[in-house]
Amino acid sequence: MAVVVSIANQKGGVGKTTLTLNLGHALANRGKRVLLIDVDPQFNLTFGLVSLDVLKYENSNVGTLLTKESEVTETIIEVKENLHLIPSHLNLSQKEIEIINSYNRERRLEKALKPILPDYDYVLIDNPPSMGIFLVNSLTTSDYVLIPLELSYFGVIGMQLMFNLMRMIKEETNEQLSLLGIVPNKFTRQTKVPKTRLKELKETYPNAPLLTTIPQSVALEKAQSQGLSIFEFDGDGRAAKAFLKLANEVINLVERR
Ligand SMILES: Nc1ncnc2c1ncn2[C@@H]1O[C@H](COP(=O)(O)OP(=O)(O)OP(=O)(O)O)[C@@H](O)[C@H]1O
Ligand SMILES: [Mg+2]
Repeated sequence: MAVVVSIANQKGGVGKTTLTLNLGHALANRGKRVLLIDVDPQFNLTFGLVSLDVLKYENSNVGTLLTKESEVTETIIEVKENLHLIPSHLNLSQKEIEIINSYNRERRLEKALKPILPDYDYVLIDNPPSMGIFLVNSLTTSDYVLIPLELSYFGVIGMQLMFNLMRMIKEETNEQLSLLGIVPNKFTRQTKVPKTRLKELKETYPNAPLLTTIPQSVALEKAQSQGLSIFEFDGDGRAAKAFLKLANEVINLVERR
């Protein structure tokens, strides 16, 4: 039965999509059966994985799934062995209003995924940088939240918003939700700022598990722009090693429970 993990942070550009894509590849490379879901109307994850094919899925994507126009099995694309995707689409933002006005709107994704959870080990959901109905659906159906964080001043302060949202979801729709951990991203030693922020983060949220730090890496950016995972682009580099370490850490945390 799949463990469902939301990759979430309401702050934009912190690495949610990068983390979803590369952690997904890392888990699949370790032989885990992985389903990625893109619930972001910006469809960056989908574009990263299938490029212009994103246009082909107008009638079978996460939006048509949430409005019940599609069956879940129709929406799944095989990216490679062990790595599947439910894509987003250009028209997802238009669907938002329809979903907001529909019955049981917070549980649409949970209900849609139920039949296929036994087919996977991990479901990773990439979320938009906003607190709308997509993020609520995603957190309602998740066992865990993984929060990528940029170690800037606003990044650390913004964590409180995520924790507030998680508390609300736990009270209202998903008592089981728990924090898998925070993943500090774009770490660099070129300035003292990230190190100072990391220390502040530990002091402010002593109970939040801090997972493997991902270094600032040009290779990651280049890989993304070419539609490749870091393992395909620069498999021996620092970023690939960090993602592999993170994948092992996630497996240990999730599977020992
Ligand atoms: N560790 C890193 N080193 C260098 N560049 C990175 C790193 N992580 C992410 N990036 C780059 O930062 C940009 C934003 O990353 P990404 O798209 O993953 O963030 P996001 O949180 O998904 O953004 P959004 O909130 O818009 O969905 C991308 O260009 C990505 O390639
Ligand atoms: Mg993104």
